[in-house]
Amino acid sequence: MKNLIDKLRNTQNLSREELLILLKEEDEETLEYLRKSAEEVRIENYGKDIYLRGLIEFTSYCKNDCLYCGLRRSNKNAERYRLTMEQILDCCKQGYQLGFRTFVLQGGEDNYFTDEKITDIVKSIKQNYPDCAITLSVGEKSKESYQKFFDAGAERYLLRHETADAEHYKKLHPKELTLENRMNCLKNLKEIGYQVGCGFMVGSPYQTDENLVSDLLFIKKFKPHMVGIGPFISHKDTPFKDEKNGTLEKTLKLLAIIRLLHPKVLLPSTTALGTIHHKGRELGILWGANVVMPNLSPTNVRKKYMLYDNKICTGDEAAECKYCMEKRMESIGYKVVCCRGDYKDFKSFSREN
Ligand code: 5AD
Ligand code: FES
Repeated sequence: MKNLIDKLRNTQNLSREELLILLKEEDEETLEYLRKSAEEVRIENYGKDIYLRGLIEFTSYCKNDCLYCGLRRSNKNAERYRLTMEQILDCCKQGYQLGFRTFVLQGGEDNYFTDEKITDIVKSIKQNYPDCAITLSVGEKSKESYQKFFDAGAERYLLRHETADAEHYKKLHPKELTLENRMNCLKNLKEIGYQVGCGFMVGSPYQTDENLVSDLLFIKKFKPHMVGIGPFISHKDTPFKDEKNGTLEKTLKLLAIIRLLHPKVLLPSTTALGTIHHKGRELGILWGANVVMPNLSPTNVRKKYMLYDNKICTGDEAAECKYCMEKRMESIGYKVVCCRGDYKDFKSFSREN
């Protein structure tokens, strides 16, 4: 098995069958070898730096009805909110003072936020903080809309593909949402010139190891700049309320495999990982991740952005989260750095083409 791991590390390539074998591996010593290899590759590419992203959850309204998500429109118990432009800029101000140089604007698919409104927000942030990167995560839009946001100054976009298997996709989403459209959005984003992030939940209902291998092969082929993965966690007001959560072990194993498969990828140790285990985010880093995304949303709305039950950090101020994260990373010998944290090879002048 160690030679499979070496092969993956040296060639960034394994067959479907080989990936499946690796994914099913349970032997502790072998898994430690996998972890160590991923950590080494991470250090070769990014040292012991941890990139920070300030997450601003600016709307909890969503027109979609994904079966796993607490923000789904059918969830009548969800409290909805929208941040004003002023509130968003205020989050950025606080974040900037704390050393954040990337802001991630994330929200449900909310038609109140027209292209014009989003463009205005992006422009205002860019004007006030020209040295910061703006990441958008607002779901599926037309190529024209993505282009407008890009022209306004957004340079990164997160859109998890959720699963690379069309049949599995159908089991997680209502019929209006298709894998085909999701993949098309990802392709458009890349064509425009964004740094693009895809990703998936680990242990989502009906997911098989074969599905996960498809996710890995998709990542290998698509070569995203970022990959967001975290365990599925059930939400009490969704159709998946009684489904089992994804596990720590499986998520860590996948983080390590993704690092080896795609060495320069920006890989967050997610809040969901921190939610299923008190040291989840530290462990994610030790298994190959290199990004953390503390929350900058105003404290009074935090509990209303509940994608899943028991989400952590919902009572803390931005400054506390930043401080807590610094301590956590120091405790494992890593260092949170104050910079934009771009993808290593990314040619920022590609904007000019
Ligand atoms: N558990 C874990 N992750 C979830 N997401 C949505 N709902 C859940 C859940 N119940 C993830 C999805 C989405 C991202 C914003 O959050 O992958 O793309
Ligand atoms: Fe909002 Fe899925 S419920 S995007």
